[in-house]
Amino acid sequence: MLVAGLLALPAVSVACSAPAARESPAPTVLAHTSDVPIGGGLIVPEHRIVVTQPTSGTFTAFSSVCPHDGCLVNLVVDGTIGCPCHGSRFAVADGAVVRGPALRALSPRSIAVDGDSIALG
Ligand code: FES
Repeated sequence: MLVAGLLALPAVSVACSAPAARESPAPTVLAHTSDVPIGGGLIVPEHRIVVTQPTSGTFTAFSSVCPHDGCLVNLVVDGTIGCPCHGSRFAVADGAVVRGPALRALSPRSIAVDGDSIALG
């Protein structure tokens, strides 16, 4: 015998309101433009980033994790970023390998320059 029935569901009231405006979190400032030497760079250890200024007013950034074996780069000199573990060097302009044993470039990181502040992009 087939019994048809109705399932009574309790009425549910959902309050709808306009979504609250979300405030954007403040950007994470890495450095000031004046902290980054022209033709050189600045290592920001707490964010594992190297910010460079290959030419005046042009800023770029890379991960400070060496692609060879994961050490953290620790110096920027003569237009290169150096890794202390096995001596790899990377170009401040584009992170390319200048000297091995690393075979891959430093990974680029996104930054945003706003006035004299350089922040994570
Ligand atoms: S981990 Fe950087 S050169 Fe080997």
